[in-house]
Amino acid sequence: MLAGKRVLLIIGGGIAAFKSLDLIRKLREQGAQVTPVLTKAAEEFVTPLSASALSAQKVYRDLFDLTDEAEMGHIELSRAADLVVVAPATADLMAKMAGGLANDLASTLLLATDKKVLIAPAMNVRMWEHPATQRNLATLKADGILFTGPDEGDMACGEHGPGRMSEPLAIVDAVVAALADGPLKGRKLLVTSGPTHEPIDPVRYIANRSSGAQGTALARALSALGAQVTFVTGPADVAPPEGVQVVAVQTADEMLDAVKAALPVDAAVFAAAVADWKVASASDNKIKKTKGGLPQLEFAENPDILATVSQMKQGRPGLVVGFAAETQDVIRNATEKRKRKGCDWIIANDVSPATGIMGGDENAVTMISGTGAESWPRMSKSQVAARIAAQIADALA
Ligand code: CTP
Repeated sequence: MLAGKRVLLIIGGGIAAFKSLDLIRKLREQGAQVTPVLTKAAEEFVTPLSASALSAQKVYRDLFDLTDEAEMGHIELSRAADLVVVAPATADLMAKMAGGLANDLASTLLLATDKKVLIAPAMNVRMWEHPATQRNLATLKADGILFTGPDEGDMACGEHGPGRMSEPLAIVDAVVAALADGPLKGRKLLVTSGPTHEPIDPVRYIANRSSGAQGTALARALSALGAQVTFVTGPADVAPPEGVQVVAVQTADEMLDAVKAALPVDAAVFAAAVADWKVASASDNKIKKTKGGLPQLEFAENPDILATVSQMKQGRPGLVVGFAAETQDVIRNATEKRKRKGCDWIIANDVSPATGIMGGDENAVTMISGTGAESWPRMSKSQVAARIAAQIADALA
């Protein structure tokens, strides 16, 4: 995914720096060339030798080195890259970036670059939440700096909260998204994904077994082709991809609102397993057990989001793609579903438990359009996603 791309990786001085060594390895696995830069503080956590061994590149250190300047000045170094990544980005580095300081190699490179910059903040939760850091964050966002994380969880300092650096794989995803330059560049895409949760009362809900894996893979594949993706997701098991605009929803009604707010788009893919029914009047309070009595739930129909968008008179996306989850007569039912809902393509899959598709890693789909049906062999959900994304790119070209 990153073949031939050059990443300048600035490693800041934080305990998360040890994960940056793994990040170097994972970026190289994707074909990237990684040039590490270590701040002085970073050298307290990782050695230049490890960074150099893992990257197979010269490591630039926070020392004034005349040989380095003679070989490749800092301006050249920061411009030779396709992307500058700062991981971990400490509170101090963020402050320097926001203030435009250039008093060491890392901050000088960051000020001198004309390339995209992606940062993975990592710091103690109180430092992250401090108004100064939040101010710097807002400034950096306004400057167009890209972010991944921080994640929430237990921290090395013993506290809990947001501040952990994103995992290396998530940073790789963000790098792929930041460098995406493919046939969908400049296109706006919408993807729905995951199940919806329809409340019964404040503690109970109706849901389904969708993990969100196929929708997530699709959003990632579309973004890797350069699309600007809005990802409207119900409560899924898998984490949303990096580099897309995530809109998290719970219910079908909320999903419809989020979809409408994301329009207009060039193409929309509806991979969500939307609940067909909701409880007509969900209780505001927890429904209590009553002796001998069973609660009576009355259902109401949810809006059909795919049909609503497919049948829009104005502002309909140029291409609308639905999924059909079937357990019998898959192709016949899906073909009818395509006509009934009015979408352009429908991707049919057999979600009978025996196939292991719902909640699994693989999918076997048939793509149905107005001109016919094509069954693809069983493959991973990311391969299915890549193939659908490529066809969408062809159709929009
Ligand atoms: N869909 C939707 N809104 C709904 C129900 C479904 O947008 N309320 C979309 C799904 O995201 C999918 C397609 O419609 O792209 C088909 O979903 P599926 O569950 O297969 O079909 P249903 O509409 O539930 O029809 P049936 O119950 O007849 O299978």
